[in-house]
Amino acid sequence: MAYPYQITSLEQYHNDYKKSVEDPESFWGAIAENFEWRKKWDKVLNWNFTEPKVEWFANARLNITENCIDRHLKTMADKPAIIWEPDNPEERTRTVTYARLHKRVCQFAQVLKNNGVKKGDRVCIYMGMVPELAYAVLGCARIGAIHSVIFGGFSAQSIADRLEDANVEFIVTCDGAYRGGKDISLKSIIDDALIGNKTVKRVIVYTRTRTPVSMIKGRDVWWEDEMLHAEDQLELNATFNFPAEEMDAEDPLFILYTSGSTGKPKGVVHSSAGYMVWTNYTFVNVFQYKPGDVFFCTADIGWITGHSYIVYGPLSAGATGVMFEGIPTWPTAGRFWDIVEKYKVNTLYTAPTAIRSLMSYGLDPLKGKDLSSLKVLGTVGEPINEEAWHWYDEHIGKKKCPIVDTWWQTETGGCLISNLAGVTPAKPSWASLPMPGVQPILVDEHGHEVTQKDEDGLVKGNLCIKAPWPGILRTTYGDHERYRTNYFATYENLYFTGDGAFKDAEGNFRITGRVDDVLNVSGHRIGTAEVENAINMHAGVVESAVVGFPHEVKGQGIYAYVIMNQKHGDDEQSKKDILQTVTRVIGAIAKPDKIQFVTGLPKTRSGKIMRRILRKIAEGETKNLGDTTTLLDPAVVEEIQKGKL
Ligand code: WTA
Repeated sequence: MAYPYQITSLEQYHNDYKKSVEDPESFWGAIAENFEWRKKWDKVLNWNFTEPKVEWFANARLNITENCIDRHLKTMADKPAIIWEPDNPEERTRTVTYARLHKRVCQFAQVLKNNGVKKGDRVCIYMGMVPELAYAVLGCARIGAIHSVIFGGFSAQSIADRLEDANVEFIVTCDGAYRGGKDISLKSIIDDALIGNKTVKRVIVYTRTRTPVSMIKGRDVWWEDEMLHAEDQLELNATFNFPAEEMDAEDPLFILYTSGSTGKPKGVVHSSAGYMVWTNYTFVNVFQYKPGDVFFCTADIGWITGHSYIVYGPLSAGATGVMFEGIPTWPTAGRFWDIVEKYKVNTLYTAPTAIRSLMSYGLDPLKGKDLSSLKVLGTVGEPINEEAWHWYDEHIGKKKCPIVDTWWQTETGGCLISNLAGVTPAKPSWASLPMPGVQPILVDEHGHEVTQKDEDGLVKGNLCIKAPWPGILRTTYGDHERYRTNYFATYENLYFTGDGAFKDAEGNFRITGRVDDVLNVSGHRIGTAEVENAINMHAGVVESAVVGFPHEVKGQGIYAYVIMNQKHGDDEQSKKDILQTVTRVIGAIAKPDKIQFVTGLPKTRSGKIMRRILRKIAEGETKNLGDTTTLLDPAVVEEIQKGKL
């Protein structure tokens, strides 16, 4: 498979960028010609950011799985689509060819049909990283159901909220999942999430760990039984095909929940056609994928990175991807390097947190590992500090592999700002240049473009995007107004990212992190309001305020200031109880790293918590806390400072 739209020189990048901005419709229309359509579009793009409305490839018809699977069958049926590495390195690995993937996805689509799933229905998927997770995702897409994958680390309560928000009737899960030698009982978490739920009719359970589970009569069925039955049905047709449902370009493909600065996580909705074109285009260009390369993205499919760069991007390009069930540090901190050596990985795509964590083990885990197959390295999810960037470059890439620092978001579907491996220049800790079609702009708090450089020669501001790219989210599930207020109401006619950024004289961007009340802990987005709500559910808590602080490995840690009611006893016990509450309500990923008990919080006279002050204290700032004169009780600041952890 050749990619006529692959950018191969810096000059071509500049030309393509110019074309994409001057005439987006003919630029993206030409790229879309490289996909399989049941019917082509009437118009490439309709949009306005005030309504807001975005439509790409209007009235085109397609099914994304025909682009990710069927079209590869003629030329590469026997090529591995997914190479699966189990948590336990002693266990047998599995290789799924495109032919096998086609078979399994068709079978699972048949299973969904047999269980009453129809086009447009929402299917929640809560599984570990097994190939069956990919079959489930693609099976939904084949039948036109909307998948909502929930990361295996979320609690029953988080699942229950998401099931309710999207009115989910069907769930696919596993008995358990293996991660780092531990066995996590996923099915029992689903059972807890379903207490009181009135909409879920069917739970399909894949056997992975053989953990005992309770199967509820009339509701729960085994994956294996269902697949056998579907196999019998499909064998009657000579090609073993489950005809893909014809979808409109703008039909929703999936929902993925992500945290914002207020309230409960929102269901980000992506479309079929635009998302497909965007994930494919960015995959081929950012990583400079060449046919035959082995691509290893270490993310979990429960996050957007896994959706876009384990499933849809690589498969639509006919690539071979490694899917890893486990964690980088088990059984040893050399696990990634073993995998690279074993499968001769060409591209490794991981998170700065993983790099920093592996750095902390020193160079021993790298001894004797053959990393010579590597050609390209990538990072995603959070700003990468220069020290980690250089370690990655020197010890993993041996200074021969370009590093792509890819900035993007759940909402953007795929990379928006990134260098293109070996084609456009890399700059340590800078995401660098925008992808064709992406028009970033830095604005001040009033939404005016900042053009003035400050003393270090950089323009600094809040990062917005001026016009839609094909992978932009189309709505937030069930609440289009929330979509408008979240992304398009802060600044007129702009998509607001929530990030701050610097721009240098060459037009490179450096993302400095969130400027809203969202934390980025180990590359995972967590809203401060969500954590506060969880802490406040503990019976002994009166009030709390949560901020981020710099953390050596996680990038950001969670610092919680908590007021307890007077009767609370032992501090250590209270901390444990609070941590457990947060784990119950959200999941272990949202547990505060530090909990400081205080008797009051700095508030304005109107009762608003001054987080700016709390953030500064958590960051270790002692003097310049800014203006505290508007506080109701300035003395409380001193007390908090004294008790800083
Ligand atoms: C941050 C992950 C700096 C950013 C794909 C963004 C980054 C949030 C980078 C989205 C990067 C992501 N450099 N910061 N290369 N990539 N971020 O939705 O703050 O989980 O807004 O999507 O991660 O996180 P999300």
